[in-house]
Amino acid sequence: MENIKNRIYIFDTTLRDGEQAPGIHLNTREKLEIAQQLSRLNVDVIEAGFPISSKSDFHSVKEISAKIRDRKIAALARANPKDIDAAGEALKGAEQPVIHTFISSSDIHLKYQLKKSKEEVLQLAGEAVKRSLKYTDLVEFSAMDATRSDREFLCRLFEMAIRNGAGIINFPDTVGYAIPSEFGEMIDFIFENTAGIEDVILSVHCHNDLGLAVANSLMAIEHGVKQIECAVNGIGERAGNASLEEIAMIIDTRKKDLGVYTDINIGEITRTSSIVKSLTGYAVAPNKAIVGKNAFSHEAGIHQDGMLKDRSTYEIIKPEDIGLKSSKLVLGKHSGRHAFIERLADLGIRLNENDLEKAFDRFKDLAEKKGEINDEDVRAIAENEMREVPEHFVLKYYEVRSGSDIRSSSKVGIEIAGKINEGSSEGDGPVDASFKAIDKITKINAKLMEYKIEAVSGGKDALGSVRVVISMNGTEVMGSGISTDIVEASIKAYIDAMNRIIDSAD
Ligand code: KIV
Ligand code: ZN
Repeated sequence: MENIKNRIYIFDTTLRDGEQAPGIHLNTREKLEIAQQLSRLNVDVIEAGFPISSKSDFHSVKEISAKIRDRKIAALARANPKDIDAAGEALKGAEQPVIHTFISSSDIHLKYQLKKSKEEVLQLAGEAVKRSLKYTDLVEFSAMDATRSDREFLCRLFEMAIRNGAGIINFPDTVGYAIPSEFGEMIDFIFENTAGIEDVILSVHCHNDLGLAVANSLMAIEHGVKQIECAVNGIGERAGNASLEEIAMIIDTRKKDLGVYTDINIGEITRTSSIVKSLTGYAVAPNKAIVGKNAFSHEAGIHQDGMLKDRSTYEIIKPEDIGLKSSKLVLGKHSGRHAFIERLADLGIRLNENDLEKAFDRFKDLAEKKGEINDEDVRAIAENEMREVPEHFVLKYYEVRSGSDIRSSSKVGIEIAGKINEGSSEGDGPVDASFKAIDKITKINAKLMEYKIEAVSGGKDALGSVRVVISMNGTEVMGSGISTDIVEASIKAYIDAMNRIIDSAD
């Protein structure tokens, strides 16, 4: 039986800091989908958003609060009344609400960003915690840019938050500047010099600018910190946050040596990573620890030989422990609805009735074209349904002409409010021509920032997956599309992005 004193709490910030990564724009339905999966993963706290930042963030926090009853739901607020009231309002329906309020503490931020004195910051922090307590019993206080702050001042700030009732004190390495030895020392300093720190939970929130987010978080655990803030697949501002799956698996794999545990249901790690990857459109590097495609592949002959003799020769984690299953059976055009549903269940994918119907239709189409459908195809089809937005623009047809001696052209038909609109254009290749034709119809003046195509599985008839990022008036959105025809996948991705621009307009 684990001793609760050794429990490490996992505060997940995929939906807040993670969503701040450029190009990620999740709608409420997608955030809810991820929140439901985070609840299955058994994180302790889900930071659902920053309600003052947009109507859609407010709405998402409200929805997640209403629907996810078995987790603590946190909402972010700067240390000012408007932010805190918005967070409190958005969290109103939550079973276990947490307001996470923050203010900068470093001299650099005070001078250039806040333009406030230390005394003013102390006062604002105290007031923010007090105001937050009008809405929730549990308030987390963070000192932004804490690792570059004057240590004495930081401790005074934390004392102020504790005196006013904060239950969690968070020590963020906002710019990912700390190195582990120094981070550990700073934590010792906080423990030794902050009155009341023993009565609250000390937390850390590490960014990965120097690739040290996980190492710093681990150092924090070794220095007595009880809560780690992290994000699935390590997504977040700039180089991202500490990766949840790495933290969870370090603790699980080395629990005897570390003497701590988490309540993470590690069997849900692969599924969670996959859902976050598809819904955010943020690729996971093949060599990424725990969830990269090659994390459990053994290439060198000597390694393969060892694995055949005994898996423990080169394997420290059993892939099946994190929910990585590979099924040998492929589906095909004769597979029925039941087999498709069973395969989804094996892959841990849950779709609502409506999405299931659409996914099954797509599966049948694809099976007709492609013959064999493997797990990656099934996953791609299902996850594509999960990330659908309200369709303001609906693709009806397209026709492209392309060749070595002609200029490419495209004609696209899109339905808008029940009426078919047709646009045509020439371009540098069929994809460019199609995007220009679509621009003529939608009249959305967006800039294409990224275009990426990859095969979902192997083979000449592989399903192509296209991801585009477009930007309009400072808002970046990601669109995705899949098809065995890469021009069609591109058109679908571009139209998906256009629909997302409409959906994100506050
Ligand atoms: O990186 C940071 O400092 C943050 C705070 C809001 C905790 O994200
Ligand atoms: Zn952060």
